[in-house]
Amino acid sequence: MNLDNLLEERRTVIDSALNYYLPGEEEYPRNIHRAMRYSVFAGGKRIRPLLTLLTAELFTPDWKRALPAACALELIHTYSLIHDDLPAMDDDDYRRGRLTSHKVFGEGTAILAGDALLTLAFELLTDKNHKKSEFGSSYWRHVDSQAKLDVIFEIARAAGIKGMVGGQAVDLESEGKRIDVETLEYIDTHKTGALVQASVRIGALLAEAGARDVQKLGLYGRLLGRAFQIVDDLLDVEGNEEKMGKARGMDVKKEKANYISLCGLVEAKVRRDQLYSQALKELEHYGEKAAPLRESTRFILYRDF
Ligand code: IPE
Ligand code: IPE
Ligand code: MG
Ligand code: MG
Ligand code: MG
Repeated sequence: MNLDNLLEERRTVIDSALNYYLPGEEEYPRNIHRAMRYSVFAGGKRIRPLLTLLTAELFTPDWKRALPAACALELIHTYSLIHDDLPAMDDDDYRRGRLTSHKVFGEGTAILAGDALLTLAFELLTDKNHKKSEFGSSYWRHVDSQAKLDVIFEIARAAGIKGMVGGQAVDLESEGKRIDVETLEYIDTHKTGALVQASVRIGALLAEAGARDVQKLGLYGRLLGRAFQIVDDLLDVEGNEEKMGKARGMDVKKEKANYISLCGLVEAKVRRDQLYSQALKELEHYGEKAAPLRESTRFILYRDF
């Protein structure tokens, strides 16, 4: 199977599982359920859950056991985007090709939709009733209890103050300032890198990879996560607006401190290329089996949207 087909197939499974986990739009209270679904099904690239599944697949054909955790990551990522776009944060009007959540549902509902997605992520990982359903039975059931706890901890840490929230806090307080390289490194590895790295590590943990593999792939995830934000910053300058589904030039407008404002476009691309080859080095050990992960890495870091 070629990579495009493989990724499309995985995305379809991820979307069906997300559809299962999310409350129906007709359920009361309807407005917030609509808001949750509006953002989750707006056409995100699903990079984090894909990384989880492709990493699990390095070690087991039963990659579906990683599906609940993969979905939890996508829910948390979507919550982070809804809040990131709020007027009090980046104040953006477009996301994933649509008006942002607060533009459609109002700020209060957008905030609550984000909160609800975050908590739903942990609910689905701890809900015993999922065992009865298609997306809980063969999937999560085979996972050892300690591994489940480890995964829930990794997700909580990557999403929270030692991860995404911490990075967002420093991102906000750095607007309009000239920061040093260490502070920039902190912002990027936390606001974006933490969830990307966790996506990879969790795939390995759930597939019962050994500690050395978890560590090695964690390093791959760290390098990829760091490069991911540099690419996001590059796309803000030269990405294809229509394909991205979000406006370009917002970082300059908000005087964001990022790799480009600090070191320039050319240097940012050099750094991306360096991180790309370092990340690929960590995959060498896995040979042909890692071809989908390698190809995805190339797609993630050299896309124009
Ligand atoms: C954008 O993430 C925001 C960052 C954390 C850099 P993605 O580029 O993965 O956005 P979607 O999920 O495809 O919309
Ligand atoms: C987002 O970084 C990081 C998150 C944790 C959401 P950006 O603010 O650069 O992401 P975009 O450009 O709005 O997607
Ligand atoms: Mg932001
Ligand atoms: Mg933003
Ligand atoms: Mg950005």
